[in-house]
Formats: sequence, structure tokens, C-alpha cells
Amino acid sequence: MNKRLSRREFIKGGAMGLLGVAGIAALGQNALKTGVSPLGQDNHGGHGGHNAMPTTVGEVDHQRNGFDPSELLTDFDYGEVSTLENGQTLREYRITAVNKEIEIVPGIKYPAWTYNGRIPGPTIRCTEGDRIRIHFANGSSHPHTMHFHGVHPAEMDGVPSTGPGVIPPGGQFTYEFDAEPFGLHLYHCHAFPLARHIAKGLYGVFIIDPKNGRPSVEREFVMVMSGFDIDFDDVNDFYAVNTIPFHYDKHPIQIGVGEKVRLYLVNILEFDLINSFHLHANFFNYYPTGTSLQPSEFTDTIMQTQAQRGILEFSYKYPGLYMFHAHNTEFAELGWTGNFEVLP
Ligand code: CU
Ligand code: CU
Repeated sequence: MNKRLSRREFIKGGAMGLLGVAGIAALGQNALKTGVSPLGQDNHGGHGGHNAMPTTVGEVDHQRNGFDPSELLTDFDYGEVSTLENGQTLREYRITAVNKEIEIVPGIKYPAWTYNGRIPGPTIRCTEGDRIRIHFANGSSHPHTMHFHGVHPAEMDGVPSTGPGVIPPGGQFTYEFDAEPFGLHLYHCHAFPLARHIAKGLYGVFIIDPKNGRPSVEREFVMVMSGFDIDFDDVNDFYAVNTIPFHYDKHPIQIGVGEKVRLYLVNILEFDLINSFHLHANFFNYYPTGTSLQPSEFTDTIMQTQAQRGILEFSYKYPGLYMFHAHNTEFAELGWTGNFEVLP
């Protein structure tokens, strides 16, 4: 029996065994009652500090990791910019695949594969119609590729079967294409076994802004939802946004009351079918894949399977501390949870 089954069946089976069906019903009612605190906040909504959720103790060494999730939020990479003879804007990027140990939770180092030594890789940002040129070098010990989501010729698709195929250790290749369509996309390695190459950390965000831009907002953030299978049994042990579990629980993201926030949310989670995002005490406009300027939904929870992504827009009406987390609540308790701290 695999670990995923045993973990989940233990929880479900254990509860059923002890309580039986009537007991489960009573437990449900009880949980509903106790779910409302004297202040009228629901337990999972009213967040009384950073300890309402399980968490890890201490802090990972961000400097040694080479990235800090608080900085990844706004780390947009516009590349080296020049103009081609035809007037088109050229953006060039240098990306190297390297093996790197990343401290995922305090004291636990994970032998990751990375683009430019960080997870996620650089957030590549451009405008529709730009020429994108990626100078990719493989400085790791395994063959890798860069596969972009978007429209491009087959030989630029970064898969084993077309163009240069997989790039061997020590090899290099320049991926080049026009940026289209506008929206929120991603890139990842497409060497086999695919699940392993993605789960090890080879992914990043690819934002193509519309020609005339999006309406202006005060704050823009990038969040990549992923997980880490630290014992290599194809079951995730930790979940996170921007790699480090509980990071934004310990370091809330500060915004102001009324500030317009645009969140670029990408799910790359391997091994679990669905991930989700729930914003507390608020609603957001949701633009799936960011390919339309009209939102498809006004909601407080969305779900994404692997490689699905979308843009969320919202602002907070009241000051305070507000959670955001996977509404696969098991993921939340294993690290995929954070807070917005809304300042007056
Ligand atoms: Cu790879
Ligand atoms: Cu993909």
C-alpha cells in the first residue's frame, strides 16, 4: 500500500472506526458549533496570530538557498532588452540548469534541480509580440530542456522528440520565439521521467503582458504552487507557494487597505491532481490563464490542476491579518498557507 493511501485511510478509517457513522455526524455538528468563536469569526477565518495552523519551527537559510520567497513575489525579469532591425523588441535571457541543495524546511535539505539556482526559476516577463531569446545551458548532471507554454514552432517546443531534443549535461541551446498569446503562462523541463524533472524544481513563470497593458494596480505578486516529495516515494511531504512551506505565514505579505492587488497564480504541483487557492474574508475577480481582460468569475476559491494558472484581482476593505491557503486543507497544514497583513 502506498504512503498516500495509508496516510489518508488512517485518518478516515481511524475516525470511522472510533466513532461510527453516528459519531461522524455528531462530530460534524460539533465542529460546526465550535467553528464559531465568541467573536463571531469562523475558526479558519479569524486568524488569531501565526499559530492557528501547524507550522515549522525556525527559519530556512534563504541566503544559502539563493532566494527568499518574500522577494520572489515581485521579482520580474524583463531580460536584456534591445531592438531588432524590424523594430521588434528583443528580450534575451541566460538560464542555466544546475543541481542545488535547497533547504525546504529548517534542517531538511532537498537535492533539487533548478533553473539559475532558484525555485521557481526566473519570472520571465515581456509584452505580446516581443521576440524572446533564451540562451539555455545545462550545467547539471542530467539531460534537461526548457518547454514553454505559448505559441511557437515545433523545434522550439523543448521536448525530446523535436528540434534539439533533450540538452545533455554540458550542452546548450537557444530557444527563440515571438511572445504570444498574452496571458499568464509557465515553462518547465520536459525530459523524462517528466514527473521527476518537474518535482525536482525545474519550472518557472512566463508572463506575456497585453500590448496595451492591463489596468494599473498598486501591487503585483507572483505565486507558484508546488510540493516537495523529500523521500522520493512519489507522494508530497510538503506543500508551498514559492517553495518554502509556511513562509508567508511567518512573514505576512503587507498591503494597504484599498490597494489593488494583482496576483499571478500558477500551479505546477506534481503527484496530486488538484491544487486550490482560497482568500479569506474577501472575493476576487478571476482571469483563467490571463488571456482575457474580462474576468470569468467573482469568487473566493478556485482550483487548478497542473499547469493551470490564472490572475486574481482584489483589494481589502478592512485592515487586519487574513489567511490565504490551499482549500485542499491537508495541503494547508503541510505548508501551503500564508497571510496578507492589511495595513490601515
Ligand atoms: Cu529536466
Ligand atoms: Cu507544461
